[in-house]
Amino acid sequence: MAQRQDPPPLLMGYPVHQPRRLRQFEPLRRLVRETRLSVDQLIMPLFVRSGKNVRSPIASMPGQFQLSVDQAVQECRQLHEQRIPAVLLFGLAQHKDDKASQAYAKDGIVQQAVQAIKAQVPGLAVITDVCLCPFMSHGHCGVVRTPYAAKKTGKKKSQAPPRSGQEWFIDNEATLELLAKTAVSHAQAGADMVAPSDMMDGRVGAIRRALDRDGFSRTPILSYAAKYASSFYGPFREALGSEPAFGDRKSYQMDAANAEEALREVALDLEEGADIVMVKPALAYLDVITRIKQRFNCPVAAFNVSGEYAMVKAAASRGWLLERAAWLEVLLAMRRAGADLIITYWAKEASKLLQENRV
Ligand code: PBG
Ligand code: ZN
Repeated sequence: MAQRQDPPPLLMGYPVHQPRRLRQFEPLRRLVRETRLSVDQLIMPLFVRSGKNVRSPIASMPGQFQLSVDQAVQECRQLHEQRIPAVLLFGLAQHKDDKASQAYAKDGIVQQAVQAIKAQVPGLAVITDVCLCPFMSHGHCGVVRTPYAAKKTGKKKSQAPPRSGQEWFIDNEATLELLAKTAVSHAQAGADMVAPSDMMDGRVGAIRRALDRDGFSRTPILSYAAKYASSFYGPFREALGSEPAFGDRKSYQMDAANAEEALREVALDLEEGADIVMVKPALAYLDVITRIKQRFNCPVAAFNVSGEYAMVKAAASRGWLLERAAWLEVLLAMRRAGADLIITYWAKEASKLLQENRV
């Protein structure tokens, strides 16, 4: 039976087969286009800060602003009018400490923004980034312990002791508690979905249990499942003032060399109850997006991060790239790789373009 077959006719080649036939005329190109971009797939990140009537430009992210709550509401109104389904909120701290109190304070900046947006633009989905780094004095995504402090408090036995010579480590368990509190406080403020970005082990499960326990069993979790220790977050950290004061994030964010590990991270998050999984950054990790989509067949989000945005903006400002063509190509690549949703600072511009049917 399994005879060697002739090559399928598709491979017979020129002149019978001429792929260019379908590229000659724009309407035909449209008919055979495999991947499409729609406003339905876009999520716009917003930075919220204290104050009134503040719209403060972010130098490394031209076109993006730190917005006071009233301005964020206005922005959300426009985004909603442009049919963008959701925003992802990041909060700028006014006060930082070593337990990130403002991350889960009832009147924290994110909580205030969620309340105001949900009250005034109820049709827009509000997703909140759940992390501690913007609110920690040291800027790390978790609770930092030194071997000395760990001895002093004498608890947290489940935490592996630091390796000798290590000056600090992140206490996974203690961090989970604070993250769960943060997620619940966002849900209480009215968040439609929470997005933990800390990369602690077990966080999705801890957040899921806390939400369920407090009456938010219907609030979905968008997990930053495969989040890499990347240099492409630079502009974001400037925007949020969240650069770690010492060390780096390599003990919790993933190594850029690893893709198999991303599949394991996703498997764990899905098992713990993640509803959507995210790959971040997106552009340098398109293979990871593809493998996750093929393996798990679940909703996959790509985070088109600040550095990817800044890169195109910088080149375009020098006339080295055509900005719109470049970002359209980038967003399309993420969709082609397998992303269902894209979190992108170009969401607003893209929605305008898509509305005008020019894509
Ligand atoms: C922090 C967080 C980061 C981003 C989202 N949440 C960066 C970091 O790890 O410092 C990056 C977003 C971007 O670069 O656009 N938990
Ligand atoms: Zn963080």
